[in-house]
Amino acid sequence: MTCLEPSILGNFSKLQRYLAFKKHQILPRRHCSAINLKIRQINETDTSAIKDLVRSSYGRTLAEELEDQNRGLTSIIVAWVDTIPCGYSFVSWKGPRDPEVRSKLPNIPEFYCLTVIEPFRCRGIGTALIDFMEKTARNQGFTQMGLGVAHTNLRAHTLYQHLGYKEAIEEYYDRYPCLDETGHPKEAADLCRFMVKNLD
Ligand SMILES: CC(C)(COP(=O)(O)OP(=O)(O)OC[C@H]1O[C@@H](n2cnc3c(N)ncnc32)[C@H](O)[C@@H]1OP(=O)(O)O)[C@@H](O)C(=O)NCCC(=O)NCCS
Repeated sequence: MTCLEPSILGNFSKLQRYLAFKKHQILPRRHCSAINLKIRQINETDTSAIKDLVRSSYGRTLAEELEDQNRGLTSIIVAWVDTIPCGYSFVSWKGPRDPEVRSKLPNIPEFYCLTVIEPFRCRGIGTALIDFMEKTARNQGFTQMGLGVAHTNLRAHTLYQHLGYKEAIEEYYDRYPCLDETGHPKEAADLCRFMVKNLD
């Protein structure tokens, strides 16, 4: 799964109350430093706070994702504005998830499912999440970071280019299980490119 567009706002009542309270005065564009933003790896105690935000892969539970994190396979990173979880990303520490990409680019950690919920976008939170994951990778001795982005996701592609990511694999299909319109399991495939950044 490369890109997720969360439709969680409908049942995200805490966020709605927060936004109603703050009206339009908060979160000036591009002024991440003006908001109380915290980014950290989550743990079991955060489960109820982030369960409506973090989307696990189809067929997997958040508990299973946390188990992978405890085994050192992945990290789940969440951005909080005050007490509101507003963005997240996974990192795979054992190389790119796609077997074809992994065979060509082994040992490069990959971040995936990067998402900032709509009212919080364009305030630098996505960039701050990426920055946090890059620093974490550097601290673990990695010299590169990678990601897969769908060919159709031009804005995210622009953001990654802006942050120094370069095309390493032009085309591959990100295949993942999901449900069709009638609720039956199927395999979807997005045409993606894999991008890599050298972490200096
Ligand atoms: C991509 C995403 C995580 C960026 O988060 P963000 O907090 O808005 O990022 P920043 O504020 O640091 O940077 C904003 C830039 O991201 C880019 N961007 C990518 N997708 C965007 C979107 N759907 N809406 C707004 N900006 C988007 C734009 O280039 C934007 O620059 P601009 O403000 O000059 O237009 C966020 O837009 C999102 O969750 N999109 C939907 C999910 C997705 O496509 N994830 C990427 C998977 S590969």
